[in-house]
Amino acid sequence: MAIRPILCLPDPRLRAASENVGVVDDEVRALMDDMLETMYDAPGIGLAAIQIGVAKRVIVIDLAKKDDPPAPQCFADPEILERSEDASVYEEGCLSIPDYYEEVSRPAKVRVRFLDRNNERREIEAEGLLATCLQHEIDHLDGKLFIDHLSRLKRERAIKKFAKASRLNEPATPRGPEIREKLG
Ligand code: NI
Repeated sequence: MAIRPILCLPDPRLRAASENVGVVDDEVRALMDDMLETMYDAPGIGLAAIQIGVAKRVIVIDLAKKDDPPAPQCFADPEILERSEDASVYEEGCLSIPDYYEEVSRPAKVRVRFLDRNNERREIEAEGLLATCLQHEIDHLDGKLFIDHLSRLKRERAIKKFAKASRLNEPATPRGPEIREKLG
């Protein structure tokens, strides 16, 4: 296992669409392990492979509370089969857009089909934070970021801020205490 560097806005690779893995083999499992280690180190609660520069449709999530034992979940080739009509709003962050948070409205429930770590095809009904997190991470696989769900004004402001910070080689936002969860 290895901690890998996380790509940040405005890295163009974050806008790339990722490809299906087809089969979860040892190579994909090794990728999942690196992603989990990278996510725990960040720390975050979700990570998509493209965030470490690998354009494969793989995501990892761990929603365990701080003092509970880790509960890693791995998803390969996830597909959203159904979305609920009702929406829920969550203040999202992203490890690729450090220390930037905005409220995003998404379907409150989703049904997702995926391959698990053992290459078994599974389906889950997700709601609450898991539904939000799955949608956020699946967006990454399509080159989409949570700021794409904001108003044009807010999105452009965020993009400008991170582009400028990257030119100046400075963080876009001052590092504060990690009080909010980062979705990844
Ligand atoms: Ni993210």
